[in-house]
Amino acid sequence: MSSNRTYSMIKPHAVADNHVGGILKMIEEGGFRIVALKKLQMTASQAGEFYNVHAERPFYGELCEMMSEGPIVAMILEKENAVLDFRTLIGSTDPAEAAEGTVRKAYAKSKSENAVHGSDSDENAAIESSFFFSGIERF
Ligand code: CMP
Repeated sequence: MSSNRTYSMIKPHAVADNHVGGILKMIEEGGFRIVALKKLQMTASQAGEFYNVHAERPFYGELCEMMSEGPIVAMILEKENAVLDFRTLIGSTDPAEAAEGTVRKAYAKSKSENAVHGSDSDENAAIESSFFFSGIERF
């Protein structure tokens, strides 16, 4: 059974470039309800923990550095079929392959600085949401 919640974050480059409002507008207009939302800055070590699944990848060091270089906007989003529908809304990891109308087509700069993260499974959505939010921060 698919869950109705996913985890997302707006990455530091997109926050620094003042794209938070534009990205949230696309998310809300895409039919997602914001369950939890906050702005924070991760340490490189916290970014490393969050992206531990990619620890063996050649881009892991660059990813941890990029994700801790400034504040992010973390959120939990709700919609039927949230994980898959959100990945459709944000588009491909590589902005060169992202479809027209997707968040990454509009705001990503590269495969690394790709504007937003979206969970890849219901299981990871639950784990990633709990990494950032307690129960009393969800509405
Ligand atoms: P995200 O959806 O947050 O999940 C893993 C992240 O790793 C991805 O977005 C990118 O920021 C980064 N990433 C994935 N593939 C590459 C790559 N080939 N080169 C650099 N960064 C990458």
